[in-house]
Amino acid sequence: MSDPIDRPTPRRKPKREVTQIGGRTLKPSTLMMGYGYDPVLSEGSLKPPIFLTSTFVFESAEAGKRHFEGITGKRAGGAEGLVYSRFNGPNQEILEDRLSVWDGAEDALVFSSGMTAICILMMAFCQTGDVIVHSGPLYAASEGFVAKVLGKFGVTYLDFPAGATREELDAVLSDAKTLAAEQGGKVAMIYLESPGNPTNALVDIEAVRAARDAALDPAVTPIAIDNTFLGPLWQSPLRHGADIVAYSLTKYAGGHSDLVAGGVSGAKRWMDPVRALRNTMGGICDPNTAWMLLRSLETLEIRMQRATENAIQVCDFLKDHPKVEGVGFLGLLTDGRQKDIYDRHCSGPGSTFSLFVKGGEAESFRFLDNLRIAKLAVSLGGTETLASHPAAMTHLSVAPERRAQLGIADNLVRISIGIEDAGDLIADFEQALAAV
Ligand SMILES: Cc1ncc(COP(=O)(O)O)c(C=O)c1O
Repeated sequence: MSDPIDRPTPRRKPKREVTQIGGRTLKPSTLMMGYGYDPVLSEGSLKPPIFLTSTFVFESAEAGKRHFEGITGKRAGGAEGLVYSRFNGPNQEILEDRLSVWDGAEDALVFSSGMTAICILMMAFCQTGDVIVHSGPLYAASEGFVAKVLGKFGVTYLDFPAGATREELDAVLSDAKTLAAEQGGKVAMIYLESPGNPTNALVDIEAVRAARDAALDPAVTPIAIDNTFLGPLWQSPLRHGADIVAYSLTKYAGGHSDLVAGGVSGAKRWMDPVRALRNTMGGICDPNTAWMLLRSLETLEIRMQRATENAIQVCDFLKDHPKVEGVGFLGLLTDGRQKDIYDRHCSGPGSTFSLFVKGGEAESFRFLDNLRIAKLAVSLGGTETLASHPAAMTHLSVAPERRAQLGIADNLVRISIGIEDAGDLIADFEQALAAV
């Protein structure tokens, strides 16, 4: 079978979508109930069935030939429908349409995990000699992929602290250009994570955009951003200058701690090379997970709103507690630069924050071991409250000096607030702190 490496499989859009009524543009929360799905194609079923199939039947040999002429580029216009499930399927297509709606993106792609999305995204734009410039901190696996895996293939990186100013960004991009020239490559991508995991440090996307446009060719070096902590409800990076948004859909989008998936969205010209590599490698989200995500996206707004309201109440209680050194919550920012970025980029603080317990690892562990409602588990963005210790868990692989530099301290507990009753959660944190 020939792979559609250079000519990605185009999408079939059978139904005319209603996205406006009387000049009013419909909101994502409305569109999540039907956008991208045509019941006529599925026996009138209100909800999309789960399409468990590895391949799709051609109407005739001639139609099959036309599909492949389209896929391989021998005929303009691409394939006329679905071909093979490593490339796409109905559930994934609907999910991709709906993910694009949330991000205001032209196109989106879904993957079997957030890390599959991030790895394929980076690989699609890099070749030997290239440089990636990234913000810090990043989720440890993303940072490890850049440094340890892409490094094996001759791709190097430079990083900058999340809150970097325009001057600092200009300096790192200038160094990156020099390095790329020495290596015979290009600056392949500016990769951001904002808020950064686990410190919640924000990146000034508008400043990154201005610095990129001044120093580099915007057609060659995309700005990608991991928007897992706030998106897609509380931050829309494409509107602030990013070209590509990446997600661990495992988190708020999935929202029930019962699936693993990832996504990227952006303009079609940025998505096409990523889709082509996904077509070759696989890594597309499976139909069952896509179906569960469609269900999750219907309640995304109310889940994220409730979790955020809860987090505001919980942090209000924690911030003045005598056993608490500080709370790294976007709703309680004290640093002027971070607050300025927040006010320009974010519409809400989300529900994941860092709690600095007075003391070190021992005190933090005592707090964690005494929680009764909150579960001691990595991950975030679920309906239930989770707590973990990044220095000893998710970020253990990060070198101690770098952890210290990034503020991933031994007394940092990361908390993701769920949709339980806020008073109950406060009672739980109160008794766990009493036990420290
Ligand atoms: C910010 C961020 N990005 C990416 C990932 C990776 O996502 P996944 O676990 O779905 O592969 C995570 C996981 O915790 C994360 O927190």
